[in-house]
Amino acid sequence: MTEVSTDTPMIRVSAVDKYFGSLHVLKDINLEIPRGQVVVVLGPSGSGKSTLCRVLNRLETIDSGAVAVDGVPLPEEGRALAELRADVGMVFQQFNLFAHKSIIDNVTLGPIKVRKLGKDEAREEGMRLLRRVGIADQAEKYPAQLSGGQQQRAAIARALAMRPKVMLFDEPTSALDPEMVNEVLEVMAGLAEEGMTMLVVSHEMGFARRAAHRVLFMADGEVVEDTSPETFFDSPESERAKDFLGKILTH
Ligand SMILES: Nc1ncnc2c1ncn2[C@@H]1O[C@H](COP(=O)(O)OP(=O)(O)O)[C@@H](O)[C@H]1O
Ligand SMILES: [Mg+2]
Repeated sequence: MTEVSTDTPMIRVSAVDKYFGSLHVLKDINLEIPRGQVVVVLGPSGSGKSTLCRVLNRLETIDSGAVAVDGVPLPEEGRALAELRADVGMVFQQFNLFAHKSIIDNVTLGPIKVRKLGKDEAREEGMRLLRRVGIADQAEKYPAQLSGGQQQRAAIARALAMRPKVMLFDEPTSALDPEMVNEVLEVMAGLAEEGMTMLVVSHEMGFARRAAHRVLFMADGEVVEDTSPETFFDSPESERAKDFLGKILTH
């Protein structure tokens, strides 16, 4: 019998260090995320959360250690890197949609260019994804004509159009007006329920409690706590986590 690979973690980060000049922003990070797991990352501003996300899809290089996605070490460049980027979808705080393209064109661009889908097929799949995130009726509009929540849902559809194995979200609701936060979190919770492997930087505690299997608390470039949402929110261990929770809970 051949070895089955279902035990390979979807993401494996081994002894990763990252510097910006003399600033040590990721300190010996070790992390395994099994497939289907939803991880919420919290921590104070500047603790390295965004850098960790960017390292996972090679938007940032690392100085030592190793990162593998679905058992494949992160490629340096070229076609393999483009494929990796397709495997690891990313949604940022700023929606980063192409302003001069319609919503459906934003969603179909990657599949046509990278996955080599035909226009019709890409459009059909794109419309299916827009329906899934609830904005099919906005398909022909330009990003500026949509609300922030709709734009962020379009950004999620665009990432999903690449058929990623993992989705990274870096503070996806921080730039939204409060009344639009839930519509985006709903889409994310749906993805989580369907079994998508997700790493979500977010301070939305309702989402973390409802959708996360695991919480990582980062401070000063280190993972300080790695536990269940219940344990983290109800009985954090470290002083730094208690201090952090004290600050976000009083807001
Ligand atoms: N491109 C960069 N060049 C230099 N320093 C950076 C760069 N990006 C981030 N940093 C610094 O690295 C640290 C971690 O940043 P970041 O990962 O963005 O933290 P977080 O997302 O937790 O707020 C911060 O001190 C930040 O100022
Ligand atoms: Mg950040």
